[in-house]
Amino acid sequence: MQSAVNGIAGRISTISVSSTAKVAADAEKLRAAGMDVVDFGAGEPDFPTPDNIKQAAIRALEQNFTKYTAAAGTLELRKAVCERHARDFGTGYRPEECLIGVGGKHVIFSLMQALINPGDEVVIPVPYWVTYQDVVRYAGGQCVFVPTDEQNGFALTAAMIEPHLTPRTKMVIVNSPTNPSGAVLDRGEFEGIFRLTSSRGIYLLTDECYCRFLYDSEPFSIASLPGARETVLVAGSLSKTYAMTGWRIGFGLVPAPVVTAMNKLQSHSTSNPTSISQKAAVEALQGPQDAVSVMLAEYRKRRDYVVGRLRAIPGVTCAEPRGAFYAYPNVSVVIGNRGIGNAHQVAERLLAEEQVAVVPGEAFGTDCHVRISYATSMRELERGLDRFHRFIVRNSEA
Ligand SMILES: Cc1ncc(COP(=O)(O)O)c(C=O)c1O
Repeated sequence: MQSAVNGIAGRISTISVSSTAKVAADAEKLRAAGMDVVDFGAGEPDFPTPDNIKQAAIRALEQNFTKYTAAAGTLELRKAVCERHARDFGTGYRPEECLIGVGGKHVIFSLMQALINPGDEVVIPVPYWVTYQDVVRYAGGQCVFVPTDEQNGFALTAAMIEPHLTPRTKMVIVNSPTNPSGAVLDRGEFEGIFRLTSSRGIYLLTDECYCRFLYDSEPFSIASLPGARETVLVAGSLSKTYAMTGWRIGFGLVPAPVVTAMNKLQSHSTSNPTSISQKAAVEALQGPQDAVSVMLAEYRKRRDYVVGRLRAIPGVTCAEPRGAFYAYPNVSVVIGNRGIGNAHQVAERLLAEEQVAVVPGEAFGTDCHVRISYATSMRELERGLDRFHRFIVRNSEA
């Protein structure tokens, strides 16, 4: 690899800073300058971490559980992850097939480092979560993008995946419910994708980050199918499910040799996820789960409100999100007008003219949408959508 300017390693030039992090920084700059910003950019619950989880962390501190742990996480937490997954989805993972990471993002990063060789192809449906393509490229892999159709609610099917599988395909990534569109993969299609990958010895990475936030279907894990544990890689996270984004706990449920490889990497990088967070995570997984249903009910109310408001804006279309907490409206109606050339410029102008922060679709592989996170209060949604409506109407005129 060629050396880069200023001595920065060439591999860093294969990736970009996360667009969601950039939107947060731009919004923060305006806020610091005293502007009244409505932030629809943040992909994190606006709820506090439930009290029982916070109390478990306080107990960990009081009991001086503040030292290094095993690099792959404590046995207590790995058991708790396996038990929760078994209870929720009927899987049968053992602790040696489980690894705890510093958030789901870190788990996905380590998985790519552990499995992808230069030239390996990784199939990624579009729109996709911003991080996948960067972590695949950083590992030397090639991204193979599979478009989905907005008219069908961005639904993914096995037939869409099949033509993209080649002898070089190492992995297919599926994220259901999907960030940014809220699309949920039909169970039959998920099983169809699994048959395609398992029969060819291709890994199927299922990112279950939003698996408990479903509006009209039952939680399901492809890892519960017989024989799935050989080729299915589960990436899970406590961040959204338990409103624990800052605690940084995620997990992988993967074949034991893959745990060994990831553990090697982790032992030289993070050492271990924070000991206190691990104790809190055990409580999150083993304690009462009511907070999750309370959040889901609130997200459903907001989803209905947001989609209703977006569809009432002339020229704007919005596929119904069936899970997660994002809406992904099509804003083509303003593209081509008043110097706005793409979704990136829609987001820039919306922030400058109306102080509303959204993430442009380019971050997710499409250039005529923006992502609105409705993990914020109804009052902020009302204020922000009033401004968004005004912005679109004003800029719809050529
Ligand atoms: C689809 C998806 N996967 C994984 C993650 C990782 O979350 P965390 O690293 O906080 O566990 C996110 C966070 O936004 C996400 O949207």
